[in-house]
Amino acid sequence: MNTPTVHPQWSSRLAFVLAATGSAVGLGNIWKFPYVVGENGGGAFVLVYLACIFLMGIPILMAESMLGRLGRRSPVATMQHLVTEQKAFKGWALIGWNGVLASALVLSFYAVIGGWSLAYVVHALSGDFTLDPASTEPAIAVIGGIFSDLLANPLELLLWHSLFMLIVIGIVGRGVRQGLERSITWLMPMLFILLLVLVGYAMTTGEFMRGVTFLFRPNFADLSGQAMLAALGHAAFTLSIGIGVMMAYGSYLPDSVNIPRTVISIALLDVVVALLAGLAIFPIVFAEGLQVGEGPGLIFVTLPLAFAQMGDWVAGLNVSLMVASLFFLLLAIAAITSAISMLEPVVEWLEEQKGLSRLSGTLLGGGVIWFVGIATLLSFNLWDKFYPLAALGIERTFFQLFDFLVSNLMMPLGGLAIVLFAGWVIPRATLEQQLPVSQTAFNLLYLLLRWITPAGVALVFFYQLIR
Ligand code: PFF
Ligand code: NA
Repeated sequence: MNTPTVHPQWSSRLAFVLAATGSAVGLGNIWKFPYVVGENGGGAFVLVYLACIFLMGIPILMAESMLGRLGRRSPVATMQHLVTEQKAFKGWALIGWNGVLASALVLSFYAVIGGWSLAYVVHALSGDFTLDPASTEPAIAVIGGIFSDLLANPLELLLWHSLFMLIVIGIVGRGVRQGLERSITWLMPMLFILLLVLVGYAMTTGEFMRGVTFLFRPNFADLSGQAMLAALGHAAFTLSIGIGVMMAYGSYLPDSVNIPRTVISIALLDVVVALLAGLAIFPIVFAEGLQVGEGPGLIFVTLPLAFAQMGDWVAGLNVSLMVASLFFLLLAIAAITSAISMLEPVVEWLEEQKGLSRLSGTLLGGGVIWFVGIATLLSFNLWDKFYPLAALGIERTFFQLFDFLVSNLMMPLGGLAIVLFAGWVIPRATLEQQLPVSQTAFNLLYLLLRWITPAGVALVFFYQLIR
């Protein structure tokens, strides 16, 4: 008994789980989580991030995929449809527009970093992270140099960015997604195992406990309002919520799927991957005397150091080359499965509202996004001191502006609007039917959707005004 729809549906619960997991687990967990933790002082930030995942992220994720399933259209049309159906205030439809715009913007910079991971697959395969034991140059200098050379070269970055976008456009435009969705079933276990290997390596650095302490011992004295907002923003970013991506995926979801159960397992998996990445990286940071606040280059400098030391783990096998190549390949694939989800709201919208074919929609949307991405890749070299909003006293590069705008504003505020709409506009009976949990759990969930989650988001924004 599925709602009639113009779009195809996932063949099963599994297909949705795979796609949504593929969207959630990505660069956000492995590249971004460690560096934002580092920039925001560690333990207290992690605790706020976890609270944001459970009190805000999970309810928003449930509400968003449910709205998608109720509307069965692109985020824009879904919101318009639900607004008309519920005779609600027209302004709610902004949720859909915010989604199309933000998902395009997030992809523009995500693709640049995805390009770094492609570049690193090639570096790893060419043995650049397998260090010559006879060399007198310290490993950190060699590996740090590889990263700074990459960033300093806009043409090379453009090549990798373009390649990444081409792969994503190829997959989305030709609709050849099934193979990719399936690949999540082996991608996740392999990523998991490799992260465990890295955590194992981190234990041998002698600074493992310092890493653990940094991640888990909260020091609230240095938790600024900015850090709270960053924690909320990262919780939204890592779960892919607030900008219609999960709404678009939910729009293909059969009515028989249990949303609460599915969503909770996706969120837990996402958290575990991020924490493992943190446990692998910080001990290396301390052991090598690197800066925790290193920024976006953090994993691209720390992890190759770990790979380099693995050179002689197994006699006769170039373990370091194999592990490094495999790791960056998995990272690139995880980035691709997230990136295709960002293109989804844009393409679904172009198809539906502008009447474009899937292929032309993808080419047009992808082309514009590719172009906007150039501002991000220049933010790491020619434009690294160019602050477009300097006149307003905001010293951020294009990359930093886009990331702040999407992750810390559009995603949390989009998520706020989504829970409010679900909690206050959608009738309780519909919610009960869409989110099948026990009566007690439902009462709690209803309280979250209507009050706790919106209050939490509002509190984070308000806290900044006072701290
Ligand atoms: N959740 C993805 C990650 O953690 O890498 C990033 C992401 C995907 C953000 C989809 C936003 C989005 F719409
Ligand atoms: Na994530």
